[in-house]
Amino acid sequence: SLGALEVHWELDSTSSELQRRGTTASDFSIVLAETQTAGRGRRGRQWLSPPGLNLYLSCLKRFDRGFAALSGLSLAIGVIVLRALDHLGIAGAALKWPNDVLAVTGGQPGGKLGGILVELSGECQGPCAAIIGIGLNLRLTPALHEQAGQPACDLATLAGGTPPDRNRVAAALIIALVEGLRQFEREGFTGFLIDYARHDLLRGQPLHLSGSLGEFDGIGAGVDAHGALQVRMADGSVRRIDSADVTVRRA
Ligand code: BTN
Repeated sequence: SLGALEVHWELDSTSSELQRRGTTASDFSIVLAETQTAGRGRRGRQWLSPPGLNLYLSCLKRFDRGFAALSGLSLAIGVIVLRALDHLGIAGAALKWPNDVLAVTGGQPGGKLGGILVELSGECQGPCAAIIGIGLNLRLTPALHEQAGQPACDLATLAGGTPPDRNRVAAALIIALVEGLRQFEREGFTGFLIDYARHDLLRGQPLHLSGSLGEFDGIGAGVDAHGALQVRMADGSVRRIDSADVTVRRA
């Protein structure tokens, strides 16, 4: 169950705040901020976090079996975000590996609705903690669209123009996190595979991958029980990608 829930007006970053607390944070702490002055995205990017309508939330969850058992956690969080949207009656979101939440129209990926940043600390085999940061766009201004550096979308657009009530979105997300992380503790990512596959934007799509593994093309063939992306190569072999250091786009 939930240990602590805090709402702040301003923080540098909700994830940094939980990191600073370290061992003093109670298990399953959730921190929200109205605005972040140094919101962080994946790969050292910044996450623009003006006050207003968007949601910035981080959750600290401890696990006792070590972070080796946490593979797939960030993908499971994507599924959890979609479950929350589903409860709110908001359709039209899907997942792009490893953990972008995108709008989707007519099967085609649209802009990014939100981002997930999972940071692990502790031991490989022993006690460890995950700090799970989630940013969700409820309503973007033209300036935010411009600064985002990539196509972005918001829940208001999915909901037909009016942004959903932010407290309701926060509550749905927190409930989905409590239930989903309990499920992850029991079943690992295996328990999320079916839901992930239902929302997997890359499955069956021609892909172009680039990064530390070089550049190559293939067809998206789903994810495995550890959350690795599977890519079918021209010769029929399946290449398993678990490096976070890779960029995937539909070719
Ligand atoms: C991404 O690059 O897609 C991940 C973005 C994660 C943003 C969220 S907002 C709440 C939490 N605090 C941060 O500083 N980052 C995450």
